[in-house]
Amino acid sequence: MASSTVFSLLFFVTIFYLTTCKKVTIEDLGPLETGLRGYFQTGKATDEFLETLHSYEFPYLLRDGMEKVYDSATICYMCSLVVDFVINQRKNAGISRETILDEATFLCTELKMETDRVCKGEMELNIDIFLYTIDNYPNFTSNRVCGAFLQAHDCDTGDAFKWSIDLPSGNSPQRPKPNGTDTFTILQLSDIHYDPKYTPNGNALCGEPICCQPDQGEPSSPENACGYWTDYRDADSPWYLVEETVRQTKTQQVDYVYYTGDIIAHRIWETSIESNTEAISKLYSYFKDSYDVPVYPIFGNHESHPHNVWPYDNVDDKLSMKWLFELAAKHWSELIGEDISKTVLKGGYYSVSPRPGFRIIGINSNVAYTDNWWLMYDDVDPYGQLQWLANTLKKAEDNNESVHILTHVPTGTFYSLKVWNREYTRILERFANTITGHFNGHTHRDEFSVYYNRSNPIQAIGAVFNGASVTPYYLANPSFKYYRVDETTFNLLDFEEWTFNLTLANSYGSSKLPEWYKLYSFVEAYGVDNLLPSEVDKILYKMTEDHSLLDNYFKFKYRNGDPGIKNGCDDSCKKTLLCSIVTTVYRENEQCNRFMNLYDQ
Ligand SMILES: *[C@@H]1O[C@H](CO)[C@@H](O)[C@H](O)[C@H]1NC(C)=O
Ligand SMILES: *[C@@H]1O[C@H](CO)[C@@H](O)[C@H](O)[C@H]1NC(C)=O
Ligand SMILES: *[C@@H]1O[C@H](CO)[C@@H](O)[C@H](O)[C@H]1NC(C)=O
Ligand SMILES: *[C@@H]1O[C@H](CO)[C@@H](O)[C@H](O)[C@H]1NC(C)=O
Ligand SMILES: *[C@@H]1O[C@H](CO)[C@@H](O)[C@H](O)[C@H]1NC(C)=O
Ligand SMILES: [Zn+2]
Ligand SMILES: [Zn+2]
Repeated sequence: MASSTVFSLLFFVTIFYLTTCKKVTIEDLGPLETGLRGYFQTGKATDEFLETLHSYEFPYLLRDGMEKVYDSATICYMCSLVVDFVINQRKNAGISRETILDEATFLCTELKMETDRVCKGEMELNIDIFLYTIDNYPNFTSNRVCGAFLQAHDCDTGDAFKWSIDLPSGNSPQRPKPNGTDTFTILQLSDIHYDPKYTPNGNALCGEPICCQPDQGEPSSPENACGYWTDYRDADSPWYLVEETVRQTKTQQVDYVYYTGDIIAHRIWETSIESNTEAISKLYSYFKDSYDVPVYPIFGNHESHPHNVWPYDNVDDKLSMKWLFELAAKHWSELIGEDISKTVLKGGYYSVSPRPGFRIIGINSNVAYTDNWWLMYDDVDPYGQLQWLANTLKKAEDNNESVHILTHVPTGTFYSLKVWNREYTRILERFANTITGHFNGHTHRDEFSVYYNRSNPIQAIGAVFNGASVTPYYLANPSFKYYRVDETTFNLLDFEEWTFNLTLANSYGSSKLPEWYKLYSFVEAYGVDNLLPSEVDKILYKMTEDHSLLDNYFKFKYRNGDPGIKNGCDDSCKKTLLCSIVTTVYRENEQCNRFMNLYDQ
């Protein structure tokens, strides 16, 4: 999820001390700029510079993402200043890996962005990708960095991030409507984030990206001790919570399982190929043993090591993600019951037909996450995935197949690369009637989005449902979903969301199993016929009139998690919710504006 993101390289560190509550402008940057230049040139931090740095201290700001940052001109200016500076240092002065690493770690630590060990671990894990790009990309400039990673600020991108794929010609043919006579059930599980180190009674206020670790000291008071089942405060899933969740999912008969990504815990500063492999293999093997139906997994951004990064095909072995693609090719083929290794080895995506007329496509949308540093090296349709998706959907259309798409990182957020989102959305539009189900994860929130036809902006052409998460990370109750699917058209007819009250479960600790309950059925909660885009669209109009529907949406988002819903959702919160439902490419605000007008009427 976005708020868990710890950006780690030098330029971010520098940029972020601008994000104090007061508005900082370019004029205010004098002392900082002078100090930075001096520091880079001499490798020494003067007392004055340290004082300047400390005045900008802002712990954990990185985890809250970029939305709070407001003076974009200043942000872009600082980004290009620092990045171009580092590029020059490296290209012209041949500055060493160790020096750059020290500089980055120093700034991260001095700014108290994270604890020393988190700063050190994150820098160490990511620095080589940045250096590889500087060393191997001809005429590398800060545009390629600031333009992507700061896309919320519209920094100059130069000629980067400008590409499109070839869309097969034609229109999406109309398909029969579902009548719900015969149905089957799909279970969606998402974002388990299995934590092998989870420590009940550990320290839940630890000041690191994940708490309840064995090496974080004692809790300061009994209230700050981590709960038994897991904890609302920056904690992931102990293995027994995984087992308990899987046990509960099996109390209903299901036909397929979708796992929409993220297996690894948020101990992001010390991942390794070995520990990731162990956790990934353990979970997939457990799925294989637990379900006697096919399981369709996709990658989350946390499966890679370091997390978030997806190198291009021919990179050095040391930086390659081949180990992960090979591991997935083996496990996924077993879980699905069909050899899908060819495309998985290419880029972590696949297409299979579980029964006549039905196709499931797994997508690796993590490549478009703006924290994927490899985008600065090559941003053009990573792994040829979108072109493959368009071609694969064309074949499905020609064969009258209905398609479900699984994807981890949603589109439309500030942290998903705009150009990739735009092209993905063009594909969804072109194949709107072929795609009858669309599922994502990553945000850990129960939410959905609606895609509209650009050529006819009042026509809803797609709806994507988020699987929410098993991990509470953070503020939410663990949950999963069952979907009822029309057996002839493969349209989604309804879903049920299941959860338990973590406050209550932890009050009993290990002495009692959590009390799972059905939080809601989508069709009942919103009074619609099914989950077709046209029906989901109706809900949005209702929400603009009956704002209490957004109160429900808000509570569902956290699955009634006590700390998540504590403060309720005021008018501005409701508007933000509604806008995020209809924004599927970041900064394309037409739909948001349209619904805001209706909301205010
Ligand atoms: C890189 O820049 C140099 C000097 O500005 C120029 O001669 C060269 O053509 C550029 N190379 C590329 C690949 O753009
Ligand atoms: C439902 O639709 C399917 C396929 O279109 C059709 O075969 C079936 O007869 C329909 N059932 C009813 C009750 O209309
Ligand atoms: C797809 O459906 C159309 C219209 O019903 C039909 O003409 C065509 O033969 C079908 N194609 C295949 C491959 O089943
Ligand atoms: C989108 O709108 C255009 C223009 O009205 C129309 O031609 C096209 O068929 C629509 N797309 C879908 C998927 O209905
Ligand atoms: C969860 O359980 C706790 C403890 O019983 C209770 O105080 C709280 O109100 C419950 N939360 C919800 C949303 O029902
Ligand atoms: Zn996640
Ligand atoms: Zn994720």
